[in-house]
Order: sequence, then C-alpha cells, then structure tokens
Amino acid sequence: MAFPPQFLDEIRTRVSVSAVVGRRAKLIRRGREFVCLSPFNNEKTPSFTINDDKGFYHCFSTGEHGDIFTFLMKTQNLTFPEAVERLAEEAGLEMPRQTREEAQQAVEGARGREAVDAACVLYEQALREPAGKRALDYLHGRGLTDETIKRFRLGYAPNGNVLKTKFLARGVPEDVLMETRLLSPGKDGRESFDFFRDRVMFPIFDLRGRPVAFGGRVMGEGEPKYLNSPDTPLFHKGQILYGLALARTAAAEKREIIVAEGYMDVIALAQAGFTHAVAPLGTAMTESQIELLWRMAPEPTLCFDGDRAGRAAALRAAERALPLLKPGLSLRFAMMPAGKDPDDICRRDGPDAMARVLAEASPLSDVMWRQMLGEHQTDTPERRAGLEKAVMAKAGLIADETVQAQYRRLFKDRLFELFRPQSGAKTGNRGGKSGGKSGFGGSFGGSRPPIPHRPPSAAYMRRDFGLPQPTRERILLATLLNHPGLRDHVEERLGGMSFADSRLDSLRQTALMHIAQNPELDFEALQAHLAKLGFAEELGNLLNSDFYIHAGWARPAASMGEATAGWDHTFTLCQRAELEADLKRAQDEMTENPSDETFAAYKALLEQVRPVGDEDGDEPGFEETSHHKR
Ligand code: UTP
Ligand code: MN
Repeated sequence: MAFPPQFLDEIRTRVSVSAVVGRRAKLIRRGREFVCLSPFNNEKTPSFTINDDKGFYHCFSTGEHGDIFTFLMKTQNLTFPEAVERLAEEAGLEMPRQTREEAQQAVEGARGREAVDAACVLYEQALREPAGKRALDYLHGRGLTDETIKRFRLGYAPNGNVLKTKFLARGVPEDVLMETRLLSPGKDGRESFDFFRDRVMFPIFDLRGRPVAFGGRVMGEGEPKYLNSPDTPLFHKGQILYGLALARTAAAEKREIIVAEGYMDVIALAQAGFTHAVAPLGTAMTESQIELLWRMAPEPTLCFDGDRAGRAAALRAAERALPLLKPGLSLRFAMMPAGKDPDDICRRDGPDAMARVLAEASPLSDVMWRQMLGEHQTDTPERRAGLEKAVMAKAGLIADETVQAQYRRLFKDRLFELFRPQSGAKTGNRGGKSGGKSGFGGSFGGSRPPIPHRPPSAAYMRRDFGLPQPTRERILLATLLNHPGLRDHVEERLGGMSFADSRLDSLRQTALMHIAQNPELDFEALQAHLAKLGFAEELGNLLNSDFYIHAGWARPAASMGEATAGWDHTFTLCQRAELEADLKRAQDEMTENPSDETFAAYKALLEQVRPVGDEDGDEPGFEETSHHKR
C-alpha cells in the first residue's frame, strides 16, 4: 500500500524520534539534540544523535541515518507498512482506507479480532479457575514457570459450551464466532458448539502480537494431540510462524532466529533464554515462511530430530529453500540427538547443551552434499560421474545466478578433493580450516607418543559389554580414522557393514575409499581431508576424549596392536548382537511354528553364539586404565 506523504508527515509530527528511541536507550539532552549509546552497536561512548526538530537520527558508529519508521523496522524487524501502522496507532491516527470494501473488511476483521482476543482472555482466566487446575498442573509439570505461561498467554479451554454461552450472552454475533472458528457448526441442523474443549490452549499471534488462532493440546492420551484452528480470514497457517511476534525483537538484536518444530519447543526455548525461537504450525515450511524468516535474520537455524525421519524432513526443507537462496541468505540445520526435541534438550540437558547443538548447525550446502554422498557409491568412473551429475543437478535448482555459481564451485572442489589421489601426504593439510571448530581431540598437530605394542587383556576388553550397537559402530569408525593403517585388516568387514546413522555411514564409505586410494596418508591428513569434504561435525563428535571413554584403543595415541585388538573385539560384539537378534527371531519362529526346520535353524544359530572372550581369553595382563587416559 502506498501511504499519502501527508499522512506519514502527520505521524512524524505527532510521534517524536526521541520518544521512539527513548524506549530502547537512555537519552541525554545536548542542546537541541539528544544523544545516547547506539542501539545498533555495542559502544562505550554515545554516538547516536537525535534531532526531533528535523525528525531524524544519525548513528556515527554505524553510519545509519533514518526516522521513526526506519528505527522500528531495524530494531523490531518490521516492514514499512507494519511500522506505519504501529506508529499511526500510537499517534492516534486512523490508517487511510482506500475503498469502501476495505473499510467494510476492516470492520468485520475488527469484530473477529475482538472475539478471538476475548477468547484468549477467557482461556487465560479459566486456567486460574478450579476447573483449569489440571491444565495448570500440566503446564507446571512440563517445567513452565508462571512468567512463561503469561508471556505466551497460555490458557485452558473449559469443557462443554462455556465460551458459546458466555459470548452469546455478551451479544457477540454467532456468525463471528463461527467465522473465527471459536465455534464449530453443528452437523445436520444441530446446534453449534465450542471448537476447543478441555484442552490446554496455545494462542497463535499475528506479527503484531494479536491473537488470531489457537492450538489446543490434550492432557494425556487422545487424538489429535494438538487441535489447531483451521484457516480463517484472520489466520493463514502457511504465512505465520508460532512465536514470531514475541521473537522478532530478540531476533533483530541477535541477527539470528531459531526454527523449532512445535509449540512446546518454542516456549521451552524461550524459557531457557532462547527468546528468538519460532515454529511453523504443524506443517513443512512454506516459501512465505522462509521469506518471513529472512526478514528476521540472514541464516535462520532450523532444528530437526536427528533420527531418520528428522533427517528426511531437514532434506526436504533444504530442497525447498534451494530455489529461493539469495546472496547472503541461507538456512542452517541443527540436528538434535535422535529422539529429542529442543524442549527435551533445554529441560533435561540444559541451555548449554542446546547452545552446543545450535553452534554445530551445518550450512545448507553441507546438508545437500552429504546427502548426495550418502546416496552414491564412488568406486568406479561411472558411479563418480553419477555423483557429479546429481550434485550439479541440485546446484541447478538454485535460481540466483551468483549463489548457483558458488554452489557449483564448492561441489566441484569437493568432488576434486574426493577423487584426487594423494600420496605421502604426511605433512600436508594439517589442521585444515574446516577442522578447527569442534576440536579433534588433539589428533591434529603433535606427534604420537610411543606406546609399547601390547594387546589389551580380555578383562579390559570386556568393559565394552552392553554398549548400544550404534556406539559400537562409532567405535569401529573412530579406531580406523585414528589408525588408517588398519585398513587392510578391517576393510572387508567394515566395507560389508551398514551403519544405522546415514551420515556416519557415508563417512564410513568415504573414509574407506579415501584410504584405499591414498594408502600413505597419516591420520591427520586423512581427517583434514574428510573435514574438507564436509564431515567436520561428525569427526568432532567422534574423535574426542568424551567418546574415547568407551574405547581407549581408538585414541590416536594407542598402538597399532591395541587398535587392532580393540577393533576386532568390537566387531565381534557387533556381530554377536546381530546374531543374538537373529537367534531371538529364530526362537520366536520355533515357538510359533514348531517344526524340524525351525528347530534346526535355531540350533544352528545357537552354535554360533559362543561367549565372546572364549577365543582370546588367555591374553597377557594389561593395566586397565592408566594407559588409556590422557
Ligand atoms: P510433535 O508430535 O512432535 O509434538 O508435534 P511436540 O511439539 O513435541 O509436542 P509435545 O512436546 O508432545 O507437547 C510437533 C508439532 O506438530 C504439530 C504441533 O504444532 C506440534 O507442536 N502437531 C502435532 C499438530 O498440529 N497436531 C498434532 O496432532 C500433532
Ligand atoms: Mn515435545
């Protein structure tokens, strides 16, 4: 909408710059002007100057210059029309309406808004009444403070038709309640009824913080878990993000925004100090939501569950964003530990754990690259060409020419790195740039202290019992990455495995292939190379002292003998776990369908499952701990 210049001038006359800026900074009068510390910059001496007569501010530290509208746009991430609207309201001015229809719509919209707003208040109050006690207990039970409950205006929708009865008595027209979906139309000529009943209520706010819709959660079991308002004239699900009105100021300050999956994630994040969090409403992100996010921050961080479904969702989001990428605008992807959402992490593991997960977010380009790498084998020229074609096709989806060119270049470099034979790279590549972030448990730089070649004792090895299978897989990989010389010994067995975690699986394949092509490579050069290929995050998680607690022989400082014995032992345990699963299946089958065949199958498996350690139980002694700690 184009605003008449007189209208904007009228607002400028009524609302002074010092009044607007004064809400965010402490002003000091200096003659005809005001000065203050720049809200755009951390500074010690005030360089932000305000001239109310002329209606502008100037920031000497950043060179920013503007008026009340640009100030709100910058500090609260508003669009120009939003800033105008807000300041017009403050000035007590009606927004100019262009047509009679628009005026009519405004009246109708206002009635709907009033109704939804009143519903929000009703639900908030009901939460504090005896009938709402269970809901309040529920929210407290999920770790929310009263302050958080207030901030998000959480509430309780009573059972029955409380809202309908109250609102009709107050004279709110029934059609307004239907249009805003506070009431559901009764089927077959029956009476309309309250849409939300006996649910914990999460109001959904528009960009200006006005309630426009709700999500209602069941307490305990029941379907659906969250009941959401359908789209209404006030609410278009695909164009709103839950929590945005509350998050935008923090997002503007931090130049960052977090995108979680659900209501409770946003709320728990905010309570843990991450006030710049939002969520799409139960659906995949739409284009307009991505555009909205980019108005808040250049590289929004999307959180996904680290399980298979979460990774698939991350990939879909990445693909949706590809055509939209612009210079400087992208997405980052933070993968939660499998089966956890940000709510779980903030509450159980604490804000620091959440901050670490966010700090380890991968750029969109890495997510794409790793996916392609996982989908393609690269052991023949044709297969390598297949990978090349696939990554370039992805780059081709990017509409912006400059960004597309950069993606092509990155992928070309990585393909080159991946296929390039390297020889005797004992010195090169040390501590490659991409490797610095999370640390590699000291495997970069520094030489190996000599450790006598002694195989670990059976007792030492047996500590490993009971580790989950994925941890064992990680141990196998970590041992190889710190001891590439193991390749000949492990290649056939490791090559035949398939890891549950697809990113680790693609690291497994890539590492094996790269060592095969560059047998002279030492562990540092190998890791630097893999980091360059986009595996820095995985390496960081794998090759560190926390992880080595599970397996001392995986450390770079361990000897080849230790590494070999440890690897073999872990592999045996891995196999054994699979064998035991097979055995369990065979046993079930035999019970269900007793026959000679099922019995024979069971017995054959039983013979294979011998206690581990029997075959190497009489190894020489070996101190259990001191040797492996650093
Ligand atoms: P989840 O099922 O992952 O739930 O749905 P959650 O957010 O972890 O919820 P809690 O912690 O059990 O309370 C993620 C999001 O998907 C939407 C909601 O927006 C929810 O927050 N959703 C889920 C629905 O809209 N309806 C549903 O029935 C379920
Ligand atoms: Mn949850």
